[in-house]
Amino acid sequence: MAGTSPAMTGYWINGPLSEVLQSRPLRAIESAMSDASPLTVLGIETSCDETAASVVRRSADGKGEILSSVVRSQLDLHAAYGGVVPEIAARAHVDLLDAAIKQAVAEAGLGFDAIDAVAAAAGPGLVGGLIVGVTTGKAIALGLGRPFIAVNHLEAHALTAGLTDDLDFPYLLLLVSGGHTQLLIVKDVGEYERLGTTLDDALGEAFDKAAKLLGLPYPGGPEIEREAARGRPTIPLPRPMLGRPEPHFSLAGLKTALRHEALARAPLSQQDIADLSASFQAAVADIVGDRTVRAFELYRQRLGPDAQKALVVAGGVAANKRLKAALELVAAAHGFRLVVPPPELCTDNAAMIAWTGAMRLSRGLIDNLSAPARARWPLDPDAPPAIGAGVKA
Ligand code: KG4
Ligand code: ZN
Repeated sequence: MAGTSPAMTGYWINGPLSEVLQSRPLRAIESAMSDASPLTVLGIETSCDETAASVVRRSADGKGEILSSVVRSQLDLHAAYGGVVPEIAARAHVDLLDAAIKQAVAEAGLGFDAIDAVAAAAGPGLVGGLIVGVTTGKAIALGLGRPFIAVNHLEAHALTAGLTDDLDFPYLLLLVSGGHTQLLIVKDVGEYERLGTTLDDALGEAFDKAAKLLGLPYPGGPEIEREAARGRPTIPLPRPMLGRPEPHFSLAGLKTALRHEALARAPLSQQDIADLSASFQAAVADIVGDRTVRAFELYRQRLGPDAQKALVVAGGVAANKRLKAALELVAAAHGFRLVVPPPELCTDNAAMIAWTGAMRLSRGLIDNLSAPARARWPLDPDAPPAIGAGVKA
């Protein structure tokens, strides 16, 4: 669970400055919890290869407004390596973050004084980058005398839909990104039950690896989608885990099957690449549809028939139109409303971090300056380990 309640945290630092520094964050929390005034939060995202900063306002009635959202992609720096290089990412965050924050505050039309709290992604992710964001966030919070909030990046993906859609708890979340593939019940802020995860590769990772073996550039998801648009989904590929009772995923076998089909056709023509892409994408859509239907059943079992039926899709892979079409079909068939945030909020950004910070602040959930950056940080620490070869989530 991200963060702790104010009652559980020791505030800030000990020493000569402590009186001043303690009183201001406390005042901010008191007004956040009692006032009808809106909360304005600066968010920082550095968990992977996007350096991002954003200012978000949450009004007393719970509505969100993005005042600015700056995302500086490092894609160019990593493209040559076919994936994100952690050390290059961390160094690039150091180079880019200060300017991104300055720009976000300026574009919001505010001064730093108007910021009620600073939220930074503190995990899970590449720890070098996380340390850059967390340290910068703490320094700004300390300088301003405002609360600091260490945000779980996955919680931010989970809560983003509430920023753009009128959405109450609970709901079912399908989180599909480069690093994560999970089906979770979102019961409330900080309350998650994991239903399914991947036993090997994350969905976005599978797209990236598939693209690489077809000779397409990184990131592979959009490339596969583009190629698939002019291909035929006729090459037989397996659908691992279909029909299994637990809504887990396994994608390594699909990737291996794709490799075999590609080798059998080498050297690949443009049409081969398009057909293999379309076939891969169709297999993924079938798998995700089947696993999600299983999660619908578990969701109803856990929460009863009267619980709100909403499926939220988050993470970079949610941008995939074929996947979205498959989810629309299964959601409609099972009476679930499908909520997909706009693509710029599905991929990594800092507005989701700021929004999560505002949600947490409104409940008095802040962190102290010893909050660590965490490479691993499961949303549901009680979830039993999934049995599989290379479990990541
Ligand atoms: O959420 P995200 O921006 O970053 C994290 O991993 O946290 O997700 C990036 C992933 C990459 O693996 C990328 O290939 C995939 O999302 N992706 C897509 C599409 N757009 C991005 N996968 C399939 N279809 C897409 N259109
Ligand atoms: Zn992400």
